[in-house]
Amino acid sequence: SGNDAGGDAPESTGDDYGLVEAGTLTICSDIPYAPFEFEGGDNGTGYTGFDIDLLDAIAKKLDLKLAVQDVGFDALQSGTTLASGTCDLGASAMTITDERKANIDFSDPYYDSLQSLLVPADSDIKSIDDLDGKIVGVQQGTTGEAYATENAPGAELLQLPSDGELWPAIQAGTIDAILQDQPVNIEHEKADPNYTIVEEYDTGESYGFAFAKGEKTALLDAVNGALQELRDSGDYDTIYDSYFSA
Ligand code: ARG
Repeated sequence: SGNDAGGDAPESTGDDYGLVEAGTLTICSDIPYAPFEFEGGDNGTGYTGFDIDLLDAIAKKLDLKLAVQDVGFDALQSGTTLASGTCDLGASAMTITDERKANIDFSDPYYDSLQSLLVPADSDIKSIDDLDGKIVGVQQGTTGEAYATENAPGAELLQLPSDGELWPAIQAGTIDAILQDQPVNIEHEKADPNYTIVEEYDTGESYGFAFAKGEKTALLDAVNGALQELRDSGDYDTIYDSYFSA
């Protein structure tokens, strides 16, 4: 091109961003992980949630369509999936950690989270000190797994690939507790009063969008810019409030 002078602004193909598919922001996410990513909604991707809605708004700012790929979290957080070029970025309630930064470039933080311990309401587990000899379900490769490994050394950890398997496991009694991100355990607590959060842990975690290290810097800058615009305009708050009402 190079000669746009005088014409209408062309629809963006996102040429500068090195997109997997021209004109589309293709995101990888491990689903289900409500309220951040789950099936439903009406944005055309088949998925919704805080992460998805935020990325949909960011994609609109960049003049791109949004597409969502459901992938496994462990390979996403290790950087493997991103390096393979499956998607342009990972949006998966992923905590920004120093370890992950070895293989991933993170956006600016977009959500602050806690860890938490969910148990059956009639459980004798009241705190993390009661986990000796108990089976604690964690999602593989998560900060919840790391927290449980560090702080509940007497527990037996059952690492499952997804929250979609942790939840049925606690309902079946295969595991005695779930240790994972607090907003996700809150969803379970809301869905079924037979389960309750007995403890929360302020680990100081923030989520970021994840990019293949060194490969998507123009896109990373554009996403950060769009995120800042959404914060400034109040659109970020509108999306936030639709999932996390005070
Ligand atoms: N925040 C935690 C972490 O980064 C858990 C994220 C899991 N996300 C998901 N969509 N399954 O390790």
